[in-house]
Amino acid sequence: MAEKEVVETSEAQIAVHWQEEEYIYPPAEFIAQANMTDKTIFDRFSLDNFPNCFKEYADLLTWYEYWHTTLDTSDAPCWKWFVGGKINASYNCVDRHLKEYKNKTAIHFVPEPEDEKVEHITYQELYVRVNEMAALLRDFAGLKRGDRVTLHLPMTAELPITMLACARLGVIHSQVFGGFSGKACADRIVDSGSNVLVTIDSYYRGGTLLDHKEKADEAVAAAAQDGQKVDKVLIWQRYPGKYSAKTPLVEGRDFIVNDLLKDYYGARVEPEKMDAAEPLFLMYTSGTTGKPKGCQHSTGGYLAYTAGTSKYVQDIHPTDVYWCMADIGWITGHSYIVYGPLAIAASSVVYEGIPNYPDPGRPWRIAQDLDVNIFHTAPTAIRALRKIGPDEPKKYNYQFKHMTTVGEPIEPEVWKWYYEVVGKGKAVIVDTWWQTETGGFLCSTLPAISPMKPGSAGPGMPGIHPIVYDDEGNVVEPGTGKAGNICIQNPWPGAFQTIWGDRDRYVRQYYERYCKNPDSKDWRDWPYLTGDAAVVAADGYVRILGRIDDVINVSGHRLGTKEIESAALLVEEVAEAAVVPVAHEIKGKEPDLYVSLKPGYEASEEIQKKVMDSIINEIGKIAKPRNVWIVADMPKTRSGKIMRRVLAALSNKQPEGDVTTLANPEIVEQIKQMMQG
Ligand code: WTA
Repeated sequence: MAEKEVVETSEAQIAVHWQEEEYIYPPAEFIAQANMTDKTIFDRFSLDNFPNCFKEYADLLTWYEYWHTTLDTSDAPCWKWFVGGKINASYNCVDRHLKEYKNKTAIHFVPEPEDEKVEHITYQELYVRVNEMAALLRDFAGLKRGDRVTLHLPMTAELPITMLACARLGVIHSQVFGGFSGKACADRIVDSGSNVLVTIDSYYRGGTLLDHKEKADEAVAAAAQDGQKVDKVLIWQRYPGKYSAKTPLVEGRDFIVNDLLKDYYGARVEPEKMDAAEPLFLMYTSGTTGKPKGCQHSTGGYLAYTAGTSKYVQDIHPTDVYWCMADIGWITGHSYIVYGPLAIAASSVVYEGIPNYPDPGRPWRIAQDLDVNIFHTAPTAIRALRKIGPDEPKKYNYQFKHMTTVGEPIEPEVWKWYYEVVGKGKAVIVDTWWQTETGGFLCSTLPAISPMKPGSAGPGMPGIHPIVYDDEGNVVEPGTGKAGNICIQNPWPGAFQTIWGDRDRYVRQYYERYCKNPDSKDWRDWPYLTGDAAVVAADGYVRILGRIDDVINVSGHRLGTKEIESAALLVEEVAEAAVVPVAHEIKGKEPDLYVSLKPGYEASEEIQKKVMDSIINEIGKIAKPRNVWIVADMPKTRSGKIMRRVLAALSNKQPEGDVTTLANPEIVEQIKQMMQG
């Protein structure tokens, strides 16, 4: 068994436990129309029927060739699903819907400025645009099956169009969240070995048209320093025909997509017949070490799992208007704005801007105007909208039938506002717990079958069998009220296949801890470690407490404390840096940063600013710490280890506990006084 990672302060340790709440039952009206009302689904997906149960999801797709082996475990724990099957994701999300739905909206693009028209892209138009872009990527950019391409795109329709164009060619896309810095984009370009970057000139955020192209220049320069040359930067225009960035184009490297597309007018590209286990995309996420890791997702398994869960958990019908307010730059957007919903012929809303622009009534106006009836967002947005516009939803004439919360634990109080005010007491809510790595939901109620319980994600999904272990590897039984490390006993088709280029890290980080036999080819020996702590109630409902590792979930965005610390350490004057999670009313958690300086330097506002700037530059604004505390020294153990536990207690205004064993206990009082000003 792997040596236990010692994490002194994790989110789970500062988590607040709330009481078990009463059940709330789904409305009859919802049940009457739901896609899944058959309770026997749990029997069909029991461990006895594993892995063949997942055929039910795979059969929602159109295959060129059917598979011969449902689950191949020979390369454990790199599982292969639907082996022998041939499929194309772009075909499944676009072409196959043309017969019935070509006139139906596939994507409603809602620009942030309210005076700009909403764009309603039909399946036919999506088909045309995806094909033309695919032709461009193939014939102009020279991309082919198996190549990686980095996308650094914001929330406009061009993002799903580019993703689907890549999928058509079997090109592996790696979309980097638009808010990440050029440097963060560069790291992902280098790791994935991309020599093409697709970006956009500008986009709106909070009322400002941002110059996004400048980030491409930074990214290409930084990638080159790390030995990865980007030959072509393909730039979409936010306003076709007009270049809206101040940053000039680089001759021979930068090309305007909207100009090039004219050469591909009418082009049609035959979709590649991909093996089910060939990668569809990479999604980088933060982990326990500084370097973000590229989670590699498959084509067939991933699409089957996201299609199945979009149908049965999101309850999407082709006649619904579905709006997931996440960013496609994160896994939620990949699985539940693009691939899952489009695979089942949804009308999916892509909103460019922030929820409260120009005022907190905006989301509800969008809902009213488009008649959105399924809504999907994160607790951080719900908390913010509740705080700044608690009565706004009442003013608008919309009605959701279904709502999702995802990304962080949701406080029962906030859940109830979501239910009563946003859902007007008539919408069913699903609290879906999952991760970048897992491709799709792990725990959630099935909306028409199981009752809701505020603050609780619900039981394992059909075919997902959670188990909780304590640090010693004993099973923590449901109903004991004890928290432990939540794992999944079995593989499932949506799970990532490996970390791009680093199989060892994949095995170490996710499977070694509770592996029963490292030589085994039997999936039963390889529980998947999620990295979250959880409490399971007697009814099997799971409450997630938060991460047990060095990851902080800020507004539902996953940040590695090590990434933030290494950015701080780039500042000349900084000797040591330590990041701890601190509770935040809206964001859930926030990073709080402590630094000590090299000898000869004095604390100053200037140094604080340099540290902040370095973090923004290396990662992006989302990683900005609440404070940069410059301390005379870090509280340390006698062996010289920084005691983050003590710092976290100070940041969260909790008792710091016994500090007498520290090498420098006096520093704690000193830091405390400094923090009190
Ligand atoms: C947390 C986002 C409580 C959890 C889909 C997980 C949640 C991490 C929930 C993954 C939820 C996600 N309740 N916590 N419903 N959903 N989390 O990779 O700590 O960005 O490990 O994937 O978010 O974040 P990621």
